Amino acid sequence: MSIEELELTPADAPLPRREELAVPVPPLVIGPHSIWPPVLPAPMCGISDRAWRLLAREQGCPLVYTQMVSAEAMTRGGRDKSWNLLDMFVEPGLVCAQVFGSHPDSLAETARQLQDGGAAIVDLNMGCPVNKVVNTNAGSALMTQPDLVREIFRKIRAVLTVPFTVKFRAGWERFGEEAFTVARIAEEEGLDAVAVHARTRQQGYKGHADWSIIRSLKETVKLPVIGNGDVRSANDAVRMVRDFGADAVMIGRGCMGNPWIFGQILARFKGEPDPPEPTVDERLDTVLRHATLMAMRKGENIGLREFRKHVVQYMKGFPFARELKTELMGAMSVADYERIIADGRGRIHEHIAHGIAATDAEGEDPAYLHGSCADCD
Ligand SMILES: Cc1cc2nc3c(=O)[nH]c(=O)nc-3n(C[C@H](O)[C@H](O)[C@H](O)COP(=O)(O)O)c2cc1C
Repeated sequence: MSIEELELTPADAPLPRREELAVPVPPLVIGPHSIWPPVLPAPMCGISDRAWRLLAREQGCPLVYTQMVSAEAMTRGGRDKSWNLLDMFVEPGLVCAQVFGSHPDSLAETARQLQDGGAAIVDLNMGCPVNKVVNTNAGSALMTQPDLVREIFRKIRAVLTVPFTVKFRAGWERFGEEAFTVARIAEEEGLDAVAVHARTRQQGYKGHADWSIIRSLKETVKLPVIGNGDVRSANDAVRMVRDFGADAVMIGRGCMGNPWIFGQILARFKGEPDPPEPTVDERLDTVLRHATLMAMRKGENIGLREFRKHVVQYMKGFPFARELKTELMGAMSVADYERIIADGRGRIHEHIAHGIAATDAEGEDPAYLHGSCADCD
């Protein structure tokens, strides 16, 4: 299916019949790891912390990512802060730790540290479009420098015994070109998989992701290709695998406030009936648990402040969204959360019992989801 056809498919189009979706989905093989279901939460600054990774694992994701950390910080003054951001010591399951930078030696040294610190896979970020990162020649800026990319790949590969992957964009300005070059170099230098965010750097986080890049990359290299960009439903995930040949589906914004998407995709991949939508109670329980986990890992002050961006997402389309959101944004402690959620739960159930539609949905995405990541700007 072309991107034009995808665009023509309204979001509320009826689901394809189950037999159309019946697609054998093999595991994603990265080095010694056979990853099934091949559904991955995308690395996201300020989001992919320990609490989030746990929720994703509970929803069936066998491989989770840290947010990116700076190789310069890891090899100079900021190591403690970076390790705190990663928060991955003795974490169960497979964790892929992501690094960004532009100096081959500091990137290789950081990759080694990440491996020693427990990363099952190390990923190099070549997709970040944010000026602050690009201006240091890192993130997606690397895509325009094939010689440097080769040197970086070679140096990192030489120090790692765990698998090594790279995540990049569909291109810098124009679609394709640099992506194919980077993928070929990755293959030649012995990387284990590539992940592509199917937008160019110029697009940032806007416009449509053009999944045809996934198919083209599959035709260019033999490495597994992880597809990313605009997966918002189980249907999207099936299309990305079935129609574009992705070896795995990576989900960014589509899982924020909606960790259930992983379980929904898993059911499709298993050929099982769609799980029921999470109930109001399940959603409220998850909000409370997520907030509590973040407070436990980071302390109430920092953890609950950072949790506010999740509140915005969880409250989308939620009964009494505006009211609940305002109350939760002001919460200072887990006890506040418990009280507000208990009150909210009571109010919602009362309305449901009286058959009154309790929707006060807040729909807009906050700006940071479109242009940058919270920690980079
Ligand atoms: C808030 C935010 C932070 C992000 N941080 C990272 C990051 O640390 N590393 C990375 O490779 N991509 C990062 N990304 C990009 C996502 O991993 C993903 O490629 C992008 O959001 C496209 O997928 P989506 O359309 O499913 O959101 C970030 C995206 C967002 C919205």
